[in-house]
Amino acid sequence: MSAVEEMIKDRLKNEIDPREFDAPGFQHDPFPLYKRLRDHHPIYHDRFHNRWVISRYWDVDAVFQNSEAYTRGIYEEDGPYKFGSRHVFGPNILEYGRGDRHRWLRNVIAGQFVGQKLNDFLPVIDMIARELIDKFRKDGEVEVVTQFSHQFPIRVISNMLGLPREDENMFVGWYQALIAGLGFGGEHLARGIAARNEMWEYLEPLINERRKTPGEDLLSRIIAAELDGVKMDMDEIKGFVALLLAAGGDTTDKAIANMMYHMMYTRPDQFDQVKANPELWENVFTEMMRYDPVVHTQGRRTVNEMALYDEVIPKGAMVLIYLGAGNRDERVFKDPDTFDAFRDDLHMGRENRSGRYKDGKPGHLGFGMGQHFCMGYAMARQEAVLACAYFAKSLKNLRPKFKEHAGIYSPNIDSGGFRSPPELWLEFDPE
Ligand code: HEM
Repeated sequence: MSAVEEMIKDRLKNEIDPREFDAPGFQHDPFPLYKRLRDHHPIYHDRFHNRWVISRYWDVDAVFQNSEAYTRGIYEEDGPYKFGSRHVFGPNILEYGRGDRHRWLRNVIAGQFVGQKLNDFLPVIDMIARELIDKFRKDGEVEVVTQFSHQFPIRVISNMLGLPREDENMFVGWYQALIAGLGFGGEHLARGIAARNEMWEYLEPLINERRKTPGEDLLSRIIAAELDGVKMDMDEIKGFVALLLAAGGDTTDKAIANMMYHMMYTRPDQFDQVKANPELWENVFTEMMRYDPVVHTQGRRTVNEMALYDEVIPKGAMVLIYLGAGNRDERVFKDPDTFDAFRDDLHMGRENRSGRYKDGKPGHLGFGMGQHFCMGYAMARQEAVLACAYFAKSLKNLRPKFKEHAGIYSPNIDSGGFRSPPELWLEFDPE
């Protein structure tokens, strides 16, 4: 039998029914299907959803890195789509494909979320963590998702932006509607867009005021940021704030919950080591971003016809990049289905846009790579690590309240639904 015949035989034996992507089982545990994809259909043509699926680590890497061939842009200057009209965030950087405007927007703003500019906000991160924990410190139990992780990043961002503290709860409400609008269509999308419009109405006078009298806050810095003599316009500023709240807030929120979940339920043995040496929360963050990342999939469109393995993807086709599957690729990581904060085959330090590291180890794929590599990579890590370290230090003898847990899942993984535990009850010794 020829190699091609062997491959066809193998394919037929391991055929995938595309409806499996919509089944509840996949939302709860996508990893068995990811493995079948990697092993037998490294490029899978899903005719039912009209898309091509990529799942091996180095293929995910190659698609992320090649923005000339695979674009994220859905906005064309002369196209029928009105920029931001169908997106819950409104116009935002993620909608730009290749080209100067994306590069300009990134360059003007990216510096605000790294290095000293980020360190300036460390006291805010500390203050919010303390305030939230003080509310339940005496109770002896906490539901981490509603009482902590869901509250924390959004309050940090709202403080960083310098928004009035008395309006913080309003932002928490808008944030929840934005997130629901992102993950689900129909009524949720309509509510998300309504929340975004309300938020924009609220923001506009504030932006005008900061333009006249800038402060040290992030909103003033975003307004003042300038490259080649050009600043962001009003719509770009508002779109960016919406993106910050949702893409920066919701993801970090869920990252914190995933880290706590894995320390409590998957590796309580490693939790003891992490408690003794809180710097190890950095490793927990990195391994969580590999093993159970919040974001599992991103989409691209082919700019031209592309040949991959034995398939030809036509021009303009939707390509689904399963970074959650690439992260579990046994061709790259030993024993990939084990959560191990001490693994030696993963780059454990800070991420970068190229995904290439001096230690020669592969990094996790959880922030993407290349053109749209997450701009909040340093901020997310800093917030999540500090929040978890503060949480574990402040609450003595932290332990799960219930023996069993339903685990981490996504309500709808293919429509932007991010993966995290819906609730996480913990107990501790009250003060
Ligand atoms: C653990 C938390 C986070 C995760 C898992 C995450 C994940 C991602 C991923 C996968 C992408 C790439 C999208 C693509 O390639 O299509 C991305 C882009 C982005 N992220 Fe994050 N993110 C997180 C936190 C943040 C934070 C805190 C911010 C706020 C500063 C942020 C801002 C952005 C922006 C602005 C982009 C778009 C960049 C561009 O288009 O050039 N993210 N993020």
